[in-house]
This record gives sequence, structure tokens and C-alpha cells, in this order.
Amino acid sequence: MNSDKLIDALFTQGWFVWDNFLTSHEVSELKACIPTDWSQAGVGRNDEYMTKKAIRSDKIQWLQSDMGPPVSDFLQRMNDVRLEVNRHLFLGLFEYESHFAKYEQGDFYQKHVDCFRGQENRKLTTVFYLNEDWQPEHGGRLKMYDLDDNELATLDPKAGRLVVFLSELFPHEVLPVTQQRVSIAGWFRTNGVSGNQLDIAR
Ligand code: OGA
Ligand code: MN
Repeated sequence: MNSDKLIDALFTQGWFVWDNFLTSHEVSELKACIPTDWSQAGVGRNDEYMTKKAIRSDKIQWLQSDMGPPVSDFLQRMNDVRLEVNRHLFLGLFEYESHFAKYEQGDFYQKHVDCFRGQENRKLTTVFYLNEDWQPEHGGRLKMYDLDDNELATLDPKAGRLVVFLSELFPHEVLPVTQQRVSIAGWFRTNGVSGNQLDIAR
């Protein structure tokens, strides 16, 4: 089963690519829920929060369970993932925050690490893609690195694909796109300082 593969991969390497996490029918239903009022994405937290177009130029919209059944079903699936990860890896994942992200022609997100500076409570990152018929020439690949800057993977943002990785260990970037690219980026957080560190071999 794929959730076993997820647990295995997180334990041994800290990241996993789960293709066909949702069917193409589910993807198109989810796409139909995407709101029209996007806001410029920011970088940092609270008083540090800034919109920095030099770092990222995508637009976002936070998921809310009242956006419709496809969205609440998605959030339910992510909660199942959370429980499974906690059951096997004892990460103490507590809640999930997620946003739709839209990249238009020329948009990108420079290399970054997902947890906030000075605050390490984003433990596990998920990125789910909603792009049917994505072609190499559309760009927009997710490039993943380890903390020694070795390239680990370059992934197409294709519909149905879910990428999962430990937030603190994998710098990553979104290469510029030549056409619209839509995803749902999300983070499982721990409650304050609780939660365990998963020490993967590196
Ligand atoms: C992010 C992010 C990756 C992607 O939103 O933090 O890194 O492939 N997204 O969309
Ligand atoms: Mn990121």
C-alpha cells in the first residue's frame, strides 16, 4: 500500500513522491473549487511577513473546509496521512495548514527551506499538483536538495502527484513556469516544542 511506502520512505530518506494520490476525476473536482480572489504570497511570519516578489512570485489562497466537499475531502485525506505518520513515526504532527498556489508565466519560487526562522514547528511539507497534461517545456519543476546542496530530485508538477518531505531537511525551489501551474502546498505542524525529530541517515 502507498501509505506503507510513504512511511518507509520518510523513515529511510525523509521524502516521498506519491503518484495518483487522487484520481484525475478528484483532481478536476478540486480544481473547480479554486477561488478567484488570489493574494500575493508572502515570506516570513507575523512582523517579518513580507511579500517579496524577488523570492517568490506566486499567488495563494488558504484552503478552508467550507470551500466545498472536494476541499474537505482533500483535508480529510491529509488528516489520514497525519494519523498514519504519527502512528508509525511518532512525529507528533498536530495540525495542517495549506494553500492553493498559482504560478503564471514567469513565476517562480527561489530555493528555500519551509520552516520559519527561529521556529521549527513546520515538520512535514506536502505539495499536491493539479496540472493535467504538464509538459517539460512548461517548466515549473520542483527541484529538491539536501542540506549539503546535493540535488536529489527534479519533479514535474503533474496532476495527482503528492510530494511529501521533512520540512527542515530539504531546501527546494520552483523553476520558472511558461504556463499556469496550480498546486496545494501544505504543512503539518507540531504543537509548540513537542514532537520528535526524525533522524534520517544522510
Ligand atoms: C512552497 C513550495 C513547491 C511547489 O509553497 O513552499 O515550495 O512545487 N512549493 O509548488
Ligand atoms: Mn516550499
